[in-house]
Amino acid sequence: KQAPDQLIIDAGQKQFGATACASCGMIYSADSLEDNFQHTQFHQRLLDSIKFVGWKKERVVAEFWDGKIILVLPEDPKYATKKAEEVRKLADNELGFQQVSLSCPSKAKTYLFVNSDKMVVGCLITEHIRQAFRVLEQPERTKDMTKADFMEHHRAWCCSTSPETAICGVSRIWVFSLMRRQGIATRLVDTARNTFMYGSHLTKTEIAFSDPTPDGKLFATKYCET
Ligand code: ACO
Ligand code: ZN
Repeated sequence: KQAPDQLIIDAGQKQFGATACASCGMIYSADSLEDNFQHTQFHQRLLDSIKFVGWKKERVVAEFWDGKIILVLPEDPKYATKKAEEVRKLADNELGFQQVSLSCPSKAKTYLFVNSDKMVVGCLITEHIRQAFRVLEQPERTKDMTKADFMEHHRAWCCSTSPETAICGVSRIWVFSLMRRQGIATRLVDTARNTFMYGSHLTKTEIAFSDPTPDGKLFATKYCET
């Protein structure tokens, strides 16, 4: 098993026959031909999609020691909207969305977190909304529940039936798997709250997360209460 020449694969620790690629994060079995093929494809696509070359005009809305956040609007130059689209597709792929388009693409705002290695490692897409349904606390998964049952339950029963006013809807939030738990999602949402409406600062209750995944719920619950 030899990696194709064009890839620099720094294979991480081996456990139970599975290898985690240290550059794309994919976990695969290096002994399987099929897995190796899948990995090669995923690896190249991921690195191409998150590569950030720098733009003539960048709307930098926040700067940090480890990166910056760039806002992309639908009317921006093609090079910017194309990159935003590329990253959205990557996130959608991971979220399991199949070509779901945005409800109103002409109004969507995309926030990209670019790190100091010139990679887009986080993406937040917001939409303007009027009302939302509050996400309710979930019961714990019980012993006799299969994982599939639990997930189904998780997605289907997470919201209350009474609408509340919200202004900024988080339609997608995604952070590169190897960069999670470093506050990137938190900084993206904080920045969106500050820049979503000119001259005003949205409170945490004016933000709503649409159809959150289990990861998304853990994050949103933590974010909204602190
Ligand atoms: N498990 C438990 N708690 C979590 C998790 C998790 N997987 N992720 C975030 N949190 C909580 C923690 O309390 C965390 O603080 P801590 O690290 O100090 O404990 C706090 O939220 C803040 O987390 P961040 O570091 O800001 O979040 P991160 O940058 O890791 O991104 C995200 C979170 C976006 C959910 C990421 O895990 C991800 O991209 N997951 C895959 C895609 C996904 O499911 N996105 C949400 C879809 S829902 C939607 O788009 C509306
Ligand atoms: Zn890889």
